[in-house]
Amino acid sequence: MHENTLHIDGHATAVLIGKGLTARLEDIDNARLVCLVDENVYVHHAEKLRGRQCILIPPGEKHKSLGFAEEIMRKMIAAEADRSSFLVGIGGGLVTDLAGFVASTFMRGLPFGFISTTLLGQVDASIGGKNGVNLDGFKNMIGVIRQPEFVWCDLSLLESLHQREMVSGFAEVIKYGAIRDAGLFGYLEKNHAKVLSRDPAALEKIVADSAGIKIGIVSEDVREQGERKLLNFGHTLGHAIEKLTGMLHGEAIAIGMVLAARMSENLGYLETGEAGRLQSLIAAAGLPVQTEIGKGELFDTLLKDKKRSGSAIHFILLKGIGEAFIYNMQLDSLRTAINDLY
Ligand SMILES: NC(=O)c1ccc[n+]([C@@H]2O[C@H](COP(=O)([O-])OP(=O)(O)OC[C@H]3O[C@@H](n4cnc5c(N)ncnc54)[C@H](O)[C@@H]3O)[C@@H](O)[C@H]2O)c1
Ligand SMILES: [Zn+2]
Repeated sequence: MHENTLHIDGHATAVLIGKGLTARLEDIDNARLVCLVDENVYVHHAEKLRGRQCILIPPGEKHKSLGFAEEIMRKMIAAEADRSSFLVGIGGGLVTDLAGFVASTFMRGLPFGFISTTLLGQVDASIGGKNGVNLDGFKNMIGVIRQPEFVWCDLSLLESLHQREMVSGFAEVIKYGAIRDAGLFGYLEKNHAKVLSRDPAALEKIVADSAGIKIGIVSEDVREQGERKLLNFGHTLGHAIEKLTGMLHGEAIAIGMVLAARMSENLGYLETGEAGRLQSLIAAAGLPVQTEIGKGELFDTLLKDKKRSGSAIHFILLKGIGEAFIYNMQLDSLRTAINDLY
């Protein structure tokens, strides 16, 4: 098992990565415990949750809403949850975002923890305290930043995860290598097949490395004033592609990363050939590397991105594999840069 701690504003979140962690629910007083559990996780792992009070969350982004949060809270009232309750969100990013939001607002805030069950959740969504729901098709419009007591990345739960979700989460792992850790990137180049076939040691290494990078960045910049923006590598274009195509998040940001790396090369920041190296790893993992979307449509969609600030946008570029930086790009230059891409 691997252990790490996220320290923010005097609060410590214990992040554990390993197999069989769900059994640790035994350490929480069962009378206080309320679990919000992804339905698919429950179907595959009900025996690990036997005897626990569980409220099931159906899959699908449409359930990450204020209305559905209300429904959960009604169920919590019916189950006699109160200020002494402890809420545990058990699922991927959808459930942990929702559970963190419900726990932060129900009776002005309950303590909570996460058991993360997707690769994307374990390396990204469960860490950093961003909790929230969508509104009218806008993602994460309503929410709070509040840290859980613990994050358990139970690798045993990944066994039932659909391969396409696994590969999609792997895109975020590639991102960490690309922005911060050339060693991890090299490891992924050699071992992507091992990771994606869920070799336990390889999985533990890449989840621990990725979570470690996110913890390091978030603990320095919880409110995304600086460094945390680096985590958006591939995301400005990726979000637009996700919106336009309905691809999975990781699939869309895989294309976004290829485009951002090529842009880094075109602008002279990244040595020629390095974008190709990133593209090869992404393709080898079974992720898409190109899009049919027209450049105009792509640009118009990303203009609506909430990260836009005035006439410029904070775009994340690479100086090398393992070294990302924030580039304050004028929108006109961005339009030109996208035009030069493909
Ligand atoms: N808070 C953050 O910092 C942050 C960061 C990134 C993403 N997110 C959010 O995370 C969400 C996406 O999360 P996700 O990619 O984990 O997807 P998800 O939570 O929607 O889960 C994807 C699918 O996998 C199923 N599933 C989950 N765990 C499983 C398991 N162990 N076995 C079998 N099936 C399983 C789910 O039922 C669902 O069908 C989005 O809402 C996104 O906005 C949040
Ligand atoms: Zn992402």
